[in-house]
Amino acid sequence: MGHSSAVWDPRAAIEVTKDWNGIDQVTLRVPRGSSARVSLHGGQVISWRNERGEELLFTSSKAIFKPPKAMRGGIPICFPQFGNCGSLEQHGFARNKIWSIDNNPPPLHSNNCKGGSSINLLLKPSEEDLKCWPHCFEFRLRVSLGLDGDLILVSRIRNIDNKPFNFSFAYHTYFSVSDISEVRIEGLETLDYLDNLRQRERFTEQGDAITFEYEVDRVYLSSPNVVAVLDHEKKRTFVILKEGLPDVVVWNPWEKKSKSMADFGDEEYKQMLCVDGAAIEKPITLKPGKEWTGQLEILAVPSSYCSDRFDHIKGIVG
Ligand code: BG6
Repeated sequence: MGHSSAVWDPRAAIEVTKDWNGIDQVTLRVPRGSSARVSLHGGQVISWRNERGEELLFTSSKAIFKPPKAMRGGIPICFPQFGNCGSLEQHGFARNKIWSIDNNPPPLHSNNCKGGSSINLLLKPSEEDLKCWPHCFEFRLRVSLGLDGDLILVSRIRNIDNKPFNFSFAYHTYFSVSDISEVRIEGLETLDYLDNLRQRERFTEQGDAITFEYEVDRVYLSSPNVVAVLDHEKKRTFVILKEGLPDVVVWNPWEKKSKSMADFGDEEYKQMLCVDGAAIEKPITLKPGKEWTGQLEILAVPSSYCSDRFDHIKGIVG
């Protein structure tokens, strides 16, 4: 930008570079200094920084940045399956594939880019994908950074086949937190959840807010469209706004599972928490020619601002 009267050009705020595997990554920047980086491997957001340059997403120090597996951290996309109860690999194939940049996406009727910077990505099934999941689709992902540093992901999945198909979906978001024992989630109280640690048995949340003292791996059902993750020590709140995504996955592997994951440090469960906007309990059915949209917006705000801003946001989103 340089000069204060310079006109902000969103196109100049997008930089495409190659990672050490030769795969393109796209960095988005906005004038106040926030940034986000998306890898074409998986269409995975791998970094999101606030205006002070602080990283807001967790990436494991043991993450493996090498296809075909998704790296441990950021926001992997789970599609067309969440978990491993279908016929496909765990969390589906989308996070393991190489996406392309979509220079000519169909218009998106949404007013939430807020003049920031965006990139459009596209995934179409390969011959190999069609063998394990025989459905033709176009998956368009728009990743945007709003002028305030909000990160917005819009997924549009279109059925271009001649028969319907079903899928489940999640934005598997790894938030970076100071210390998991200082973190709580608000917005999921009293909801029913499926417990992945007990064969997806259904329970009802009893606590006032969700706190962490052991392994948690749950799918909260039919949640409100606003959920907050409060990091008491950092005095930071992540506000999660979602549309088209009825469920919320909450995952922290805790001590034992951490030790069993090769790409995750033994103690790193203390610095992360996955809270995913998702559609899992009732898979989405898409008829030929139809399109589904699932949108996630995440904001990181000082907790002191949050009670006001959160109430205001709740008022808008309902
Ligand atoms: C969670 C699942 O959302 O993702 C867990 O509920 C799983 O069961 C975790 O362990 C991580 O999955 P992956 O495939 O990225 O190791």
